[in-house]
Amino acid sequence: MLMRADYVLDNKNTDIVVGIERGQQLFKLCSGCHQINNQTAPNLQGVVNRAIATEQFDYSKAMQAQQTGVWTVEKLDEFLTSPNKSIPGNKMGFTGIINQADRQALIEYLQTLK
Ligand code: HEC
Repeated sequence: MLMRADYVLDNKNTDIVVGIERGQQLFKLCSGCHQINNQTAPNLQGVVNRAIATEQFDYSKAMQAQQTGVWTVEKLDEFLTSPNKSIPGNKMGFTGIINQADRQALIEYLQTLK
């Protein structure tokens, strides 16, 4: 009985942690590198629908080659699935987020960073 109670409680917790809240949790995967005003990674404030590789940052050649593009929701989703497959040769040391719902939640959260 206790196990079942725990299970139900877990379900409730999962329900609470969706959408932007879930995205905020997931952003901890990013914020180690992506902080405002640091040299480790470009600033992600307002990144959704921003032109690619246009912050004050020493981007890789691979990322610079994308400068004509824009970080649309679709492009971000593709990039965050597998940064290396999406933009080969970029220097972001992150393997990607496999779970589609998690990527969606994270991108929703990124949209709140203005
Ligand atoms: C290990 C450090 C690190 C982690 C962790 C990391 N990034 Fe990055 N990120 C970088 C670096 C470095 C670049 C620049 C890459 C380049 O120039 O090739 C970058 C570039 C980007 C860009 C392009 C920004 C622009 O100005 O065009 C986006 C978008 C991005 N990261 C999102 C994320 C998200 C979302 C996460 C978390 C899921 C994340 N990154 C995790 C280091 C990191």
